[in-house]
Amino acid sequence: MHVDDAIRSRRTIKQFDGTPVDDATVRELIALAMWAPNHKRTEPWRFSVVTQRQLPLLAAAAEAALQSLAKPPVDASLRAKQAKIRELLMGAGAVVVVSYVRSPDDACRDREDFAATCAAIQNLLLGATARGLGSLWSTSKALIGQPMRAFWALPDDEEPVGALVLGHSALGMPAVRHHSNDELTRWR
Ligand SMILES: Cc1cc2nc3c(=O)[nH]c(=O)nc-3n(C[C@H](O)[C@H](O)[C@H](O)COP(=O)(O)O)c2cc1C
Repeated sequence: MHVDDAIRSRRTIKQFDGTPVDDATVRELIALAMWAPNHKRTEPWRFSVVTQRQLPLLAAAAEAALQSLAKPPVDASLRAKQAKIRELLMGAGAVVVVSYVRSPDDACRDREDFAATCAAIQNLLLGATARGLGSLWSTSKALIGQPMRAFWALPDDEEPVGALVLGHSALGMPAVRHHSNDELTRWR
């Protein structure tokens, strides 16, 4: 697939058909992520992977995270959020959390490393698209909030940037409307 086509056809997918994504594919996607530009070659990104067999464990942890973050009393909206995240994860093929190593004493480097990690995530998503996979970049607290740090075994100096839910789309790739270039570009 031409890179232009991968860029244009990548769409956020929130419903997957339960087909696994094999370890070799996850490794290829992580390798693509790591070609992203990164200033001073810091390679700030780190990856934490759950493949399909462990998705029930992830779903249980995400439900517990939502419960621990909810303000009492526990109500129907919490149950609905838990059911939604479970349904998403039980259809997925793999989940990759991408985090970056913080530089608390160097704000400039920290910002650059966050930016580089976002570029790495986009590489991974485009690689997934080129392989016919759907993907979702999520910053949901259910997946990467404070209560989930232990599940992902994140060291204290790492900050998660996204949970990338990968799988085969149950619904095809939806179309999306964008602004035109000229609406958002200043030619000087
Ligand atoms: C930094 C970031 C965080 C996101 N977090 C979520 C999220 O928590 N839940 C969600 O459903 N979508 C999330 N998205 C997906 C966006 O909502 C999605 O990209 C947007 O709707 C545009 O759709 P498209 O990706 O198909 O173009 C996130 C996207 C980005 C870039």
